Amino acid sequence: MGELPSRQDAWALLCEWVQQDPLRRHCLAVEAAMRGQARLHRGDEELWGITGLLHDLDYERHPDLETGHPRIAMEELRSRRYPEEMIRAIGSHADYLGISRETDMERSLAAVDELSGFVLAVARVRPDGIHGLTPKSVKKKLREASFAAAVNRQDVASTAAALGIDFDEHVRNVIAALEPEAQALGVDGQRGEG
Ligand SMILES: [Fe+2]
Ligand SMILES: [Fe+2]
Repeated sequence: MGELPSRQDAWALLCEWVQQDPLRRHCLAVEAAMRGQARLHRGDEELWGITGLLHDLDYERHPDLETGHPRIAMEELRSRRYPEEMIRAIGSHADYLGISRETDMERSLAAVDELSGFVLAVARVRPDGIHGLTPKSVKKKLREASFAAAVNRQDVASTAAALGIDFDEHVRNVIAALEPEAQALGVDGQRGEG
């Protein structure tokens, strides 16, 4: 069993590999969502959070899904002797690697990855940002195919279903986990201005 890095070391590693703000922000969002999931599932919050933070570590440098992401990240984290649970979970978030999702942490990572990005996209077009955002508004935008069209709706639905939780509740949990980080995630709405 490897050793979990500190939050500070994990963030430094991410900043070394990822230069672009949108991807850093995505990683921060998935971290926050995973910390929320850990609290719900009584998981190890640091392990789940840092797994979320590092899940796309190699995506900027190695975006090629045939040979790159997330294989290179898995190798890097393995060479650093990070926990195997973290490395397996990161592998399992990429459908095409065929690593089955066996644990709550693995199912949670898949279920918050796309959804957290979608929630932020919805929050960004609201005057109040993420504050007051409801599952109902998120679902309305999910039905609008042209909105954040890159987000795979099927994937959002099936990964949430695999968690075995009501969809609205899952969306509510993700919103609640992201809201305290509103400022860092750029979804503080009018409160962030002036
Ligand atoms: Fe990814
Ligand atoms: Fe991701």
